[in-house]
Amino acid sequence: MSDIKTRIIRDAKELSRFAKQAHYDHKTIGLVPTMGYLHEGHLSLIRAAREKCGVVIVSDFVNPTQFGPKEDYATYPRDEQADYDKVQSCQADVLFIPGVDDLYPNGQDSTWVEVNRLGSILCGASRPGHFRGVTTVVTKLLLLSQADYAFFGEKDYQQLTILRRMVQDLGCPTEIVPMPLVREHDGLALSSRNVRLSPEARLQALSLNRGLKKARAMFQAGCRKADDLIGEAQAEIAIQPDAEIQYISIADPDTLDLFLDKVPDRAIMLLAVKVGGVRLIDNMHLD
Ligand code: PAJ
Repeated sequence: MSDIKTRIIRDAKELSRFAKQAHYDHKTIGLVPTMGYLHEGHLSLIRAAREKCGVVIVSDFVNPTQFGPKEDYATYPRDEQADYDKVQSCQADVLFIPGVDDLYPNGQDSTWVEVNRLGSILCGASRPGHFRGVTTVVTKLLLLSQADYAFFGEKDYQQLTILRRMVQDLGCPTEIVPMPLVREHDGLALSSRNVRLSPEARLQALSLNRGLKKARAMFQAGCRKADDLIGEAQAEIAIQPDAEIQYISIADPDTLDLFLDKVPDRAIMLLAVKVGGVRLIDNMHLD
């Protein structure tokens, strides 16, 4: 394949024109939505899109509506040049970097897309409005890019589940492609927020993966009691001096219905923990 020079598009209407032309040329369009500060987790999605699709669009937009008033929108890490270089190295066709006004032309007086129950449990319980921001911005990105496929990581498992439901409920023609969670060599789930961890907090953050693995080992040895499995992960994490557990839950991998007592043979454990003030999420299939 010849070398592709990634083109930056900042204007929403220009992206629409680009997508229309791509479909006119009978090319399939793959979209990889991100908030930038790209790492290997993001790049695995872009590479998968490159393999599958005729045209690859990566979006880089720190979406204000998915951050709560006390959250880190203003300080979310950003590095446009480094992102461009990485997207170019993965041979994406377009890096879409819209301004807030492009995606929210009427400001807060916006049209919202909301997935009810799934958006209010787990992370939704401690981050009210978060998933409404995600589903709204992803709807806009799907419409502008006219994507045939959109790639999302299992790192954000609840987000992935909600987006699958949204596409199904709205009859959206895009197929959601799930991609495996990518970890550092020592087990820490890759996240743009990891740069905020102090060396000490980063060490403590490894307990998340250890806790999940211990629970999985217990499950694989035959334990089916939710309390015992959760307790196993909790014990590993709670002893870290700077860890504050927000939730550890076991759920159905398709519906995210929580298992409070007996756990069936297919289940996923999900957790959110603040370590040294940095909110981290992780998950693991137990089966
Ligand atoms: P962001 O956190 O930048 O993540 C963009 C995509 O990369 C998501 O699909 C996420 O699940 C995936 N990803 C992040 N870390 C990963 C890892 N370690 N392994 C595999 N995939 C990983 O998620 C968002 O942005 C936003 O909510 C967005 C969907 C772009 C809407 O604003």
